[in-house]
Amino acid sequence: MKADPPNLPRILILASGSGTNLQALIDASRERDFPGQIIALGCNQPKAFALERAAQANLETFVVNHKDFGSREEFDAALMAYILRYNPDLIVLAGFMRILTTGFVRAFRGKLVNIHPSLLPLYTGLNTHQRALDAGDKTHGASIHFVTEELDGGPVIAKAEVAVAPEDTAETLAEKVQKKEHLLYPIVVRWLCEGRVQLGRDHILFDGQSMDTPVCLPDS
Ligand code: GRF
Repeated sequence: MKADPPNLPRILILASGSGTNLQALIDASRERDFPGQIIALGCNQPKAFALERAAQANLETFVVNHKDFGSREEFDAALMAYILRYNPDLIVLAGFMRILTTGFVRAFRGKLVNIHPSLLPLYTGLNTHQRALDAGDKTHGASIHFVTEELDGGPVIAKAEVAVAPEDTAETLAEKVQKKEHLLYPIVVRWLCEGRVQLGRDHILFDGQSMDTPVCLPDS
């Protein structure tokens, strides 16, 4: 493994797909005052474009292909073994399309965050953009939350809103939401690296104070 600059929190990113959120985080991490270091990317898809982005950025990568394992537990155990080698302070799920087992989630409690393309608690799971359109929502968006045992159900740190236009389709909405994700994830990862955001017993602490509602980035 490469020698890393000392003392900055160690960020490990997990992705499955194109990795645009990974790219946003890589770009942010190049800012001089960024308070963390991305140490590696892990992927469950050997052909994920995220791997190429990471290679271009000179990041270490590893692949744990879920198809090589007979059960979720075995896959998670292998993934966990890889992750532990890197001793991360923060594990950032950036389009990581696997449901993680309770054991995995508990092992990394408070260190594991995810981005989800809806204004949680609305629309956990898949097809969020179409579901927002079908419901006639005027506002849609993305949320970043701590990962807990409940799928897309952990405490929400921050949301970014997107105004839904009458002509929007699931595709145009997805594009708009992703642009917001690329703004929001680096902001939240900064806060996490700075220790400003922490997971308390059952709620989030922001600057040491209990946070009642997630931070919201309104559409501009
Ligand atoms: C994002 O839209 C995120 O909300 C969801 O998966 C997508 C990943 O996109 N969890 P990318 O791989 O970062 O481009």
